[in-house]
Amino acid sequence: MSNGGNSCTWHSLRIDRCVCVDVTFAQMRAFADDRGAADVAQLRSAFGCAENCGLCEPYIERMLESRTVIFNSVLTPRMLPRGT
Ligand code: FES
Repeated sequence: MSNGGNSCTWHSLRIDRCVCVDVTFAQMRAFADDRGAADVAQLRSAFGCAENCGLCEPYIERMLESRTVIFNSVLTPRMLPRGT
């Protein structure tokens, strides 16, 4: 089935950065590994990520937990604080 020449489909979703500051999750992970950054606040301070629209924050959290730097699905912010 043709999509009219549009190559952008749901299956090609690729989320790999904070678009507000154009810093990739791979760059953040390298920084976290080098400097021992363990939370979003430290990366926010270093790069300015998760400071504007905040849409990248759940991806950064997941990156810190899983080391994943490319996401193919939409993540939403956690609704409950950790430990609840
Ligand atoms: S995408 Fe990271 S603050 Fe907007």
